[in-house]
Amino acid sequence: MSSHNENDKKITSNNKNETLSEIEKEFNNYKSNETQQIIREKALELLDAKLITVKKEVIKEIKKILSKKGISEEKTEEEFQRFNLNFRIQHIVLFVSCIILIITGIPIKYHESALAIFIMNLMGGIKVSGFIHRIGAAGLIGVGIVHLFYTVFTKDGRKDFIYFLPCIKDVKDVYIMVKYYLGFSNKKAKFDRFSYVEKFDYWAVYWGMVIMIGSGSILWFENIVLRVFPKYIYDISKVTHSDEALLATLAIIIWHFYNVHFNPDKFPMSYLWLTGKISKQKMMEEHPLEYEKMIKEKSKKESQM
Ligand code: HEM
Repeated sequence: MSSHNENDKKITSNNKNETLSEIEKEFNNYKSNETQQIIREKALELLDAKLITVKKEVIKEIKKILSKKGISEEKTEEEFQRFNLNFRIQHIVLFVSCIILIITGIPIKYHESALAIFIMNLMGGIKVSGFIHRIGAAGLIGVGIVHLFYTVFTKDGRKDFIYFLPCIKDVKDVYIMVKYYLGFSNKKAKFDRFSYVEKFDYWAVYWGMVIMIGSGSILWFENIVLRVFPKYIYDISKVTHSDEALLATLAIIIWHFYNVHFNPDKFPMSYLWLTGKISKQKMMEEHPLEYEKMIKEKSKKESQM
């Protein structure tokens, strides 16, 4: 590309120099050096001005020819705003907190393994990792509270909550997709704003948060809990926290990571979590019902204007 531009420049300056010396020849009879200098300067100035006009005319002519041939400009693809900034920040805090909690929690569960001992030592021991675990827990509790407020008090939050609710169509969609994956049909399910995969992801986190925050708080404030409740409450919480932690970690790695990272259609990942934007093509492929609704709404608004 750059060598192309350099060639263009060479051609232009060669042509300009040739034209300039031809013009200068026309003024050979003006002998004084001063006059020759004026002629040269003016000629260059006028040539530059003319070249700009010629360039514009050439571009106009080419555009005319292309449009006559029916060749149109390829515009950058249209995008849709799928997630707002608030939702994106909640998701970032959620995954950062979860990563912290898994790295600092799972080595306690498997404290006998060499890898767990290595990670623990790397973090500076159980006291430091316990402290970091509680910072992660604060992040998870914080995002949980913010999400509840977001769901109740914002329009987008209320709308998405309704879309996340499971319905009969999800069961039908699972049936259609299983048939498709097994090769019995070529028909794929048409999803609305959230597919059954995304709904499962959402509700798994909801359920997981209730269990982990509930049982984790009992472990965190064991002194207070043991003064008020019998010891088996603490013991049950410990087992629940430990086992649900493993379940949550596996769900994230197997279900969530496959769907958003390792799936060949998504690998390595979509930047939707960062930009909140989805291309028109992806929207039509992954959320055709939502796309159809948006188009209908748009044309309704346009007809009202
Ligand atoms: C994704 C979320 C979380 C994961 C994966 C996780 C994981 C774990 C695991 C595996 C353990 C070791 C349990 C055992 O002894 O076998 C643990 C301990 C603990 N967790 Fe969590 N946890 C999470 C969230 C929370 C939350 C939200 C809180 C607090 C509200 C919390 C507080 C604690 C406390 C206090 C301990 C006891 C260990 C210590 O004192 O450092 N955890 N966690």
